[in-house]
Amino acid sequence: MRRWWADAVFYQVYPRSFRDSDGDGVGDLDGVSAGLDYLAALGVDALWLNPVMVSPMADHGYDVADPRDVDPLFGGIDALDRLLDAAHARGIRVTMDLVPNHTSSAHPWFVQALADPRHRDRYIFRDGRGPHGDAPPNNWVSVFGGPAWTRITEPDGTPGQWYLHLFDPAQPDLNWNHPAVFEDLEKTLRFWLDRGVDGFRIDVAHGMAKPPELPDMAVTDTALLRNSDDDPRFDNDSVHDIHRFIRTVLDDYPDAVAVGEVWVHGNERFARYLRPDELHLGFNFRLVQADFDAREVHDAIDNAIAAANLAGATPTWTLSNHDVEREVTRYGDGARGLARARAMALVMLALPGAVFVYNGEELGLPNVDLPDEVLQDPVWERSGHTERGRDGCRVPMPWSGDAPPFGFSSSTGTWLPMPAEWAPLTVQRQQADPTSTLEFYRRAIQLRSSRAEFTGSRIELNTADEVLTLRSEGGLVCVLNTGAEPVPLPPGEVLLTSAELTDALLPADSAVWLI
Ligand code: GLC
Repeated sequence: MRRWWADAVFYQVYPRSFRDSDGDGVGDLDGVSAGLDYLAALGVDALWLNPVMVSPMADHGYDVADPRDVDPLFGGIDALDRLLDAAHARGIRVTMDLVPNHTSSAHPWFVQALADPRHRDRYIFRDGRGPHGDAPPNNWVSVFGGPAWTRITEPDGTPGQWYLHLFDPAQPDLNWNHPAVFEDLEKTLRFWLDRGVDGFRIDVAHGMAKPPELPDMAVTDTALLRNSDDDPRFDNDSVHDIHRFIRTVLDDYPDAVAVGEVWVHGNERFARYLRPDELHLGFNFRLVQADFDAREVHDAIDNAIAAANLAGATPTWTLSNHDVEREVTRYGDGARGLARARAMALVMLALPGAVFVYNGEELGLPNVDLPDEVLQDPVWERSGHTERGRDGCRVPMPWSGDAPPFGFSSSTGTWLPMPAEWAPLTVQRQQADPTSTLEFYRRAIQLRSSRAEFTGSRIELNTADEVLTLRSEGGLVCVLNTGAEPVPLPPGEVLLTSAELTDALLPADSAVWLI
């Protein structure tokens, strides 16, 4: 049976930054509803909303205090219901972020745990090391920098136990050996699915399970460590029991999808998450990690497909998200970075499987160099101001007009400042220009979803010199030129190019679709 998500284009909405409907400078769900006609015209099949649950926003919603309600900042639960109705009326599905690795420190369970040592077992509390317990229980580091443990003060005022937080101290890790944690997640899943949500993006899907003895990690000298092969914090075998549990619930809702954030490099380890009774889809970040280089892109695609094939699963593709530098900037910024980003969009949209487009990618937005004083990502503080964090890829979307806030909000006090140089990048300006990145994306998505040449799950890849050629089973040919010189095209009719051809040659930093 072919599932709706198997070749879907998902559009990732960072709710703070998509569109603000109430003038507080922060995007919200009625803002997303207001943007649905735009998204329908772009041709997306589904949304992925970053977390909108009740949260003190220490990590912009990834610190959830009530997993079964929507934060008033985003318009409350009625705004979500309105969005579900309006999206479904346009044939657009809505998936939500789910954050099972940790809660907010403001979650009632954690508040209770601080107040009463008898209620700590839903989190990971330990006594400290050393004679006075004043050294953390092990040497784990937080992904955001600094130790992964924080010591609490006991209710009687004495220095007390330590709790684990792989991210910010405001995000205590849950203890996934506790049945209440499973029961509560099931309640949360059913709560949203019964409301009409079409599935979930599962945050830190390779986290959650911890080895019971909590052994030290081998390397701790990098602040922003992502899981290496030898990292006891992530990818522990018992995480798969959690995914199987989630899947049994989702199987009661046959159209629902679960896509996991799986930062696991090896294909075999990655594929375990996609076994038939676990996640439907897993984010494969190889394309994000590849440089603009034909061989690297070739390898990334090859590995992502090999990993999915190991489990008989559908591959996924993404060039950016709210955690990584935008691709225009990664590929060199300016006109060159944009040309390369457009070329990579053609590569990505030529591939079989599910595609994820991050809001603003379709406008060719670059990362923004923000001044120190506006930075909000906890990474900035936690790293002792050595890592600037992820704010630069989260700046609000420019919609219209000639000056900030570019129709994003009625307030000029947007939660992150918007650069005045974005005037040519607004939706309004790009809609009026047939050569714009927006019109290019729209056309590419339309071709991908309507032409028979894009069907079939097998592709053939060839790289010679700095040219990658990809042929799909259905007869689409995509050529990417990462070299410095223009190259001849293979025979065929040109469907779409990321840059104008020069004398029938494919210029440097560009790509073409042919049939
Ligand atoms: C994931 C999210 C990221 C968040 C972290 C902690 O990596 O994508 O934005 O900060 O989990 O929840």
